[in-house]
Amino acid sequence: MACLSVTDSLQHRGAGYADAVNACDTFPGPVVAVVGGGQLARMMAPAAGELGVRLRALVEAPDSSTAQVVVDSHQGIASDEAAIRSLISTDAAVLTFEHEHVPNALLQDLIDHGTPVRPGPDALVFAQDKIAMRTRLTELGIPCPRWAALPTEPQAARAAIAEFLAASPSGRQAVLKTSRGGYDGKGVRIISSPDDAADWIDAAADGAPPLLVEEKVPFSRELAALVARRASGEVRAWPVVESVQRGGVCSEVIAPAPGLSSNTERAIEQLAMTIATELDVTGVLAVEMFEVAGESGVPQVLVNELAMRPHNSGHWTIDGAVTSQFEQHLRAVLDWPLGATDARATWTVMANVLGSSLECLTDALPRLMAQYPEAKVNLYGKGIRVGRKLAHVNVSGDDLDQVRERALAAAALLRGDVAPEEVNR
Ligand SMILES: Nc1ncnc2c1ncn2[C@@H]1O[C@H](COP(=O)(O)OP(=O)(O)O)[C@@H](O)[C@H]1O
Ligand SMILES: [Mg+2]
Repeated sequence: MACLSVTDSLQHRGAGYADAVNACDTFPGPVVAVVGGGQLARMMAPAAGELGVRLRALVEAPDSSTAQVVVDSHQGIASDEAAIRSLISTDAAVLTFEHEHVPNALLQDLIDHGTPVRPGPDALVFAQDKIAMRTRLTELGIPCPRWAALPTEPQAARAAIAEFLAASPSGRQAVLKTSRGGYDGKGVRIISSPDDAADWIDAAADGAPPLLVEEKVPFSRELAALVARRASGEVRAWPVVESVQRGGVCSEVIAPAPGLSSNTERAIEQLAMTIATELDVTGVLAVEMFEVAGESGVPQVLVNELAMRPHNSGHWTIDGAVTSQFEQHLRAVLDWPLGATDARATWTVMANVLGSSLECLTDALPRLMAQYPEAKVNLYGKGIRVGRKLAHVNVSGDDLDQVRERALAAAALLRGDVAPEEVNR
């Protein structure tokens, strides 16, 4: 395993600098080992620095988003047992994650040998496997869309889909999902007949993860509740947000969700805190939800899915809340007291930058900074690809329409949605 140790990666800055950093080997701050080299682990770094926490990351590539800012980055993949063992070494206080694709048997072995793993594999499974998640939430009486796990035998799977569609109120459409491995809408497909599912049914019969089918929820909007739970049990919730998806990918978040009564908001926060406690989650938990019209006109929510790590619906907290989700995740996995989750502004809107026609996002910064001085920009240092999450912008203020318009316009500049000759004006 290639290892970019503190000393190696600092050698180009001169021996004096490396020696100075080595002197910090005696620094008392805990080592938090994080699996993953994307923007989520990257955004843990500022909070880690402030709290004197030494972040050590397992990154897929030496130039990954995280490796650019986390000095103690080790190269390896999440399924590589030796890489994870080496990441923990003898000194990690805790192992945590920026994604759920980690081998649970290994995590259990690490726990058995004394390394705290947070969240632990018994909780993580409900973020890894949508069938396990639906089964557990249904047992707990948490409202979910109507759903069914599909058999792996193709004829039986087709029959189950036909039966599910026949029982749907419209009888027309349902949502087919892979139970494992999907993200950003990959692994989610709207179907109108068993034929629409043929390739996925065949793949599942050949050993791909099993499938489930869900009612296509006629939601009025999508909401997300974000909470954090400490190992010893303290739980705190941020204000509930509205999240807007385009093509299955989060494109915008409005904090707090407009128009929620305080009773509904409290009920949703309580629901998320109950899930965190019942599932024994440690760290940040995001509960994605659909808002639907209730019988008495009061909106109700159905839980869509769970993420046990900092989540796109919580990026607004970096600038818009007293404690960011990244700081809170570190506090929670270290079992330190949690920070206040109050909003710092009446409204904060987070706009994602999904792909860009620019060669380099930095090219748009001078114009963005001049035009939107209140915008807080977060670039992830990733190569540009169509639809890829490259950056986000947070804008806060008192007038929601204006805040939203300016956040979206600033993000549009980073997407290159202006004539190139205007970018540097
Ligand atoms: N049962 C459903 N009814 C209607 N829309 C759905 C349903 N399930 C998922 N979606 C839509 O697809 C998006 C992605 O689905 P999700 O299960 O959250 O997958 P992912 O793991 O890719 O985030 C959701 O945010 C929502 O917009
Ligand atoms: Mg989702």
